[in-house]
Amino acid sequence: MSGGPLPPPDGLVAGAVEALSSARHVCVLTGAGISAESGIPTFRDALTGLWASFRPEELATPEAFERDPEFVWQWYEWRRELIRSSQPNAGHLALVRLARLAPSLTLVTQNVDGLHQRAGSPLVLEYHGNILRDRCVVEQIVAERSPGGGGNLPRCASCGGLLRPDVVWFGEMIPVEALVAAEDAANDCDVFLSIGTSSLVYPAAGLAEIALQRGVPVIEVNPSPTDLTRHADFVLRGPSGTILPALVEALGQGDSARNPQ
Ligand code: APR
Repeated sequence: MSGGPLPPPDGLVAGAVEALSSARHVCVLTGAGISAESGIPTFRDALTGLWASFRPEELATPEAFERDPEFVWQWYEWRRELIRSSQPNAGHLALVRLARLAPSLTLVTQNVDGLHQRAGSPLVLEYHGNILRDRCVVEQIVAERSPGGGGNLPRCASCGGLLRPDVVWFGEMIPVEALVAAEDAANDCDVFLSIGTSSLVYPAAGLAEIALQRGVPVIEVNPSPTDLTRHADFVLRGPSGTILPALVEALGQGDSARNPQ
């Protein structure tokens, strides 16, 4: 993508379009907000967020699972049903298009819902794992369920060990491959796009800080202010399902204007 920018549509900021239109490598970090318009609750939104009705320490820690695995599984099975019955939205789809427009794009997601992959995003770094996979507690690998089940608790088909959702719980390490690849991308990108995240949970929230320290433009897409807002170079205030399609449209128009076929 080369040449000067075109006037941006409403809600967009010229500088953000320009930064993206001249980007060689875009690093994107998404959070629960990008899936909100697919009907999946975020975590911290005041009334609607999951943590408004559930206590994370009772559901999303290894200690909670040890204490009461059935209770934890009930909650994860409820979330899985919600996710299976939801669809990627215009925000997810716009990122698939952005990946085609940008010379290089790294998509890091904190979301465990797999909606980026279902939208068609070619490569997704699952920073917090994936809720639809099971992991064997004994072998610490992604595993199949034993057909016989094991009462209300799923068991590993190969060793009979207890299975847990393949997600990162509070106090646990980020999968090394995703951790390293995401940091490499934040250290190499020339634009950082932070979408639908409160920027409160580390180490994910540290990725934008790497970009800030390097002085590359940081663009935030969020209907509400976050901890990153005052540091971001461009803030696109609105739902990602509206902002991202408009952003990609502006980039696409710019591209075809500059490179008429
Ligand atoms: N479009 C874009 N952003 C939105 C939208 C929307 N339609 N609706 C809400 N948001 C924003 C909110 O304003 C908020 O800033 O999405 C953000 C969601 O923040 P959180 O609920 O804190 O989710 P996230 O940042 O992804 O949480 C990080 O915390 O609970 C853990 O492991 C969990 O991955 C999660 C991590």
